[in-house]
Amino acid sequence: MALTEEGTFVMHDQVTHFYDTHPITAAQVLAKIGETGGDPESLTPPDLFDHDQDHYGHLAANDALIEAAGIASNSQVLDICAGIGGPARYVAWKSGAEVTGVDLTESRCHGARELSGRVGLAGTTRFSCGDAQSLPFATGVFDAVISQEAWLHVPDKPALLGEAARVLRPDGRLAFTDWIAGPGFDDTDRKMMARTFAAVYVPVPDAYRQMLETAGFRDIAVTDLSAARVPVLQERLAMYERLRAETLARTGEDRDRDYCEHYARFVHLAEIGAIGGARFSGVQHTGETPV
Ligand SMILES: C[S@@+](CC[C@H](N)C(=O)[O-])C[C@H]1O[C@@H](n2cnc3c(N)ncnc32)[C@H](O)[C@@H]1O
Repeated sequence: MALTEEGTFVMHDQVTHFYDTHPITAAQVLAKIGETGGDPESLTPPDLFDHDQDHYGHLAANDALIEAAGIASNSQVLDICAGIGGPARYVAWKSGAEVTGVDLTESRCHGARELSGRVGLAGTTRFSCGDAQSLPFATGVFDAVISQEAWLHVPDKPALLGEAARVLRPDGRLAFTDWIAGPGFDDTDRKMMARTFAAVYVPVPDAYRQMLETAGFRDIAVTDLSAARVPVLQERLAMYERLRAETLARTGEDRDRDYCEHYARFVHLAEIGAIGGARFSGVQHTGETPV
């Protein structure tokens, strides 16, 4: 996908705005813990896990990435599009590995550092601000690259996958989850998803597999996770509709109408298999030696 400088800029702006105004923030995570009787001044990593994961499948989805990426206690791991660091902290805590997170949105990187500092993981999780399409890391320095539910926001997938291959050592492993397109996902829906969720590029699984091969990955495995997502999305829609009704009753303003309508369309697309999710994994075999 060729993009002008201007196109890239507009998409970056859209993504950072989406996440600067996202309901899940470090402050909101700490407030939630306080409301449920926890002490935000004295926390351990598991205290965060019910609140800081911005992806489907909760902790089991992270365990699946640990296994697929072969992460061990001596691994150097990169989480691309780490958000406020939920998966990075879980992987560091569970496996003992050192995890570096990278994210485009500065407020997410600050939030990630704040939360890691509060649970004693500042030494084993680090966060850098940067673009997945042009990573701020040297070649061949990571044993594993992971990501949860984020690459739908990245327009230039070949550049992203090329960067993932570049920063991995030879035979290092990549494992990630992302949204995938199915039959019936047409241009109108693609545009709606881009406008509403900053989901700028959702490929079909075969296109993803092809791009992974071209980027230099072998032993590619694809696991379709679409069916498990449908009830989760249906529940979220019900929650958004409840919140919309409450806001309308309280303020008289129907300000969430468009979002709920688009979300309902998204859920319908998931129900008919036009959109779904998958876990991908592969082994780096570009043979490039670290510099
Ligand atoms: C749905 S959140 C996922 C966060 C995290 N993986 C998790 O599961 O909790 C997507 C994240 O991708 C980041 N992102 C989007 N485009 C990016 C890009 N081009 N480079 C780096 N990060 C990006 C956003 O800023 C956001 O924090």
